[in-house]
Amino acid sequence: MAPIADDNRRRLADFWDSSRSYYEQAAAANPEASPERQVLLGYLRDGQTIVDLGCGSCENALWVPRGCRYIGFDVSTAALVMANEQGRPGVRVRGDGALLPFASESVDAVLSTYALEHFHDPGRTFLEAARIVRPGGYLLFTGSAWDLPYEMPPSLDPGRRLEVAVRRLGRHLLSGVDGRHRFDTVPEPRVLTEGYVPDADAVHVTQSWLLVRFLRAAGLEIVEHRSLPHGPEPGGARGLYRKALRLVPLWRRAWGNTLLVARRGPELSTPSYELLPL
Ligand SMILES: C[S@@+](CC[C@H](N)C(=O)[O-])C[C@H]1O[C@@H](n2cnc3c(N)ncnc32)[C@H](O)[C@@H]1O
Repeated sequence: MAPIADDNRRRLADFWDSSRSYYEQAAAANPEASPERQVLLGYLRDGQTIVDLGCGSCENALWVPRGCRYIGFDVSTAALVMANEQGRPGVRVRGDGALLPFASESVDAVLSTYALEHFHDPGRTFLEAARIVRPGGYLLFTGSAWDLPYEMPPSLDPGRRLEVAVRRLGRHLLSGVDGRHRFDTVPEPRVLTEGYVPDADAVHVTQSWLLVRFLRAAGLEIVEHRSLPHGPEPGGARGLYRKALRLVPLWRRAWGNTLLVARRGPELSTPSYELLPL
């Protein structure tokens, strides 16, 4: 059985298609390129071709170097129409990230900001991104991450926190031991029944260390992997607790969003992976 049934995928696509306010909120939150976007944009050069994966209303088109060929790619028609209305530069393509309609090795970089947690088949989407980038080109990602097993996106019912934490911890330990690739998925995100709050539509519980390991296995070199704090580090007992958990190698970059830069090598592999519903 697919971890996210076709019916729920359709309902999610309907949500993105019907919700202009979702993109208006994003636009209001992005009056200028945030520090993490700036880091990613710093890898781009004039003359390059860039696909922005899960581009929304193409805010990033405002900040890429002017000489770049920007291609916004998203599953939402509403978002792409908004980008047109707002006169964003570049071209737009509608589709699902699990199957990118671009030739292999045809672009210099795939940029993806705040969309990693929305890909219903993250393994396939990341392999697609790697496929279309030329050798030496970059994957430039930032977005929400929940590296610790007890952290979870608002798309999951908070009443299931303990059950989810135990299940995720088990999967972390297993993945640490057997080295296999596993992506945690949310089969029925709360946005479908309870309306929208940020990340109530997340379907991939992004864990940055798993993503890094998967990209390495696919033939990419990790150039940067950081966590971007949501706020100042707490002091006292909470600060010490964080420091202690960060001693565990898997959780070194726990708390905050993730920023990941990977460079494609000459050859790609297609590591197998499992999609595991929570
Ligand atoms: C939170 S928005 C991010 C928008 C923009 N990148 C930004 O930085 O503000 C997530 C976007 O991912 C898109 N998305 C979700 N699933 C997708 C998929 N399978 N393929 C392509 N785009 C997808 C949604 O339509 C939405 O526009």
